[in-house]
Amino acid sequence: MNRHRRFAGGALLAALCFAGLARAAGPVAAAAYRGASTAELAPHPGVSDPRLAWQDWVLNCQGCHRPNGDGSAHTAPKLAGEVARYLRVPGGRAYLARIPGIASSPLDNRRLASVVNWMLWRFDPADLPADFRPFTAEELGRMRSRPWRLGMYAVRRALQARIAAGAARGP
Ligand code: HEC
Repeated sequence: MNRHRRFAGGALLAALCFAGLARAAGPVAAAAYRGASTAELAPHPGVSDPRLAWQDWVLNCQGCHRPNGDGSAHTAPKLAGEVARYLRVPGGRAYLARIPGIASSPLDNRRLASVVNWMLWRFDPADLPADFRPFTAEELGRMRSRPWRLGMYAVRRALQARIAAGAARGP
């Protein structure tokens, strides 16, 4: 009985210590956590739940593409100020949907379409064509079933050349 009481007392003490530690760690954890910005939570066509799209971006894309879509020479291409230009040239839409990081993502079609639309609005709204139609789950599902393999870089180079030629001709 005595031993039992001692054990219960020890457990209570341990629980109190843990609660105290957790409280002490709270503000530190909160300071390290960056909440979503207003731009990240803005509503846009094709993004049914901006907070979910932002979270999906953080957990599935940002590690390589960086929080501001800046990319880096050692991880992934820059998306900021560039990614929507693919939508201005023939073949660009399918190019985006078939990128391995997109096509092979663990996200289902609905959430993936949402995060791709979110990415376009978030990182390159100025380059979105006036008649931009957001990706639907159905369209993205169809395109992602054939991810790029060999040949992707040649396609990318050809698209970049078309983008540059279009830019040289003017809008
Ligand atoms: C493991 C790192 C990694 C992850 C995770 C990742 N990407 Fe990428 N992404 C790349 C790399 C590397 C490329 C360049 C093409 C290639 O080599 O696959 C790329 C290319 C792209 C491109 C084409 C850019 C261009 O100029 O050609 C887009 C758009 C893109 N990624 C979006 C996303 C999105 C959206 C997600 C999340 C659903 C994502 N990526 C997840 C590494 C990643």
